[in-house]
Amino acid sequence: MFNQKSFLLKDKSIIVTGGAGLLGVVFAEALLESGANVGIADIDPKLLSKARSKFSKYDRQVAMLKLDITKPESVQSCLRNFLEKFGRIDGLVNNAVLRAPVSDFLKRDLDDFKKTTDVNINGVFLITQKTLEIMKKQRSGCVINIASIYGVVGPDQSIYPDDKINCPEYYCFQKGGLINFTRYLATTFGRYGVRANTITPGGIYAGQDKKFVENYSKKTPLGRMAKTGDICGALIFLMSDASSYVTGHNLIVDGGWTAL
Ligand SMILES: NC(=O)c1ccc[n+]([C@@H]2O[C@H](COP(=O)([O-])OP(=O)(O)OC[C@H]3O[C@@H](n4cnc5c(N)ncnc54)[C@H](O)[C@@H]3O)[C@@H](O)[C@H]2O)c1
Repeated sequence: MFNQKSFLLKDKSIIVTGGAGLLGVVFAEALLESGANVGIADIDPKLLSKARSKFSKYDRQVAMLKLDITKPESVQSCLRNFLEKFGRIDGLVNNAVLRAPVSDFLKRDLDDFKKTTDVNINGVFLITQKTLEIMKKQRSGCVINIASIYGVVGPDQSIYPDDKINCPEYYCFQKGGLINFTRYLATTFGRYGVRANTITPGGIYAGQDKKFVENYSKKTPLGRMAKTGDICGALIFLMSDASSYVTGHNLIVDGGWTAL
């Protein structure tokens, strides 16, 4: 029988990496509003202190956590602090990202490419591995990986008005890999009661170049870029018991971009 309350996240404790960034704070707020305890984990102390004041009204429901997902000691101390406060880890949202300077592929600096890989691949590997150790023991948990439409399709080069804005090669490479990493987690850890799913957002409007926004919107069946809040319904659904039989899925929230 369907239970409307299955969408609520009361008593679930969830970590959001990159939790102080553009989507991270919106995700954290949606989770808090749905009743969850939330660890807002980020490498950037300035963004963390901004988020701290935004979320002060949630008091005991929230933990601000300094985290560098590329560093084993930082990952371990973040998880330790989170467990000390909330006692268990029901959810991990792999949302952190590092972007490199815009560059033509043929001129891409190898070190810049490696830096993004260190966060977007190696860091996700590390925090997921350490979190799954805990979830496996708990015999429950939920991992949500935040990918991108550029992990599903290649960029349409015609929408970029100049060389100041583009979808880079490392992003397609890493987000495509992340979507299949999610399937690996789903098929390997399902037997321990752990679910893993991907959310694939389309481009979020954040004051980008006017011509780019116009081109992007024209190409999108729903006629606009995403608002940050557009992605939250998918997050709450996949984190909640309403999706208790959903694992290995890629929930695309892109206004129809990849349906073309
Ligand atoms: N913004 C978009 O248009 C868009 C579209 C599709 C998908 N996404 C995806 O959504 C997610 C969030 O994107 P966003 O636009 O909010 O990015 P953002 O840059 O605003 O936030 C990313 C956060 O990750 C943090 N971070 C970077 N390196 C870290 C590390 N080593 N350890 C811990 N935290 C680290 C940053 O400090 C930042 O707060 C990303 O995975 C991104 O790929 C974004």
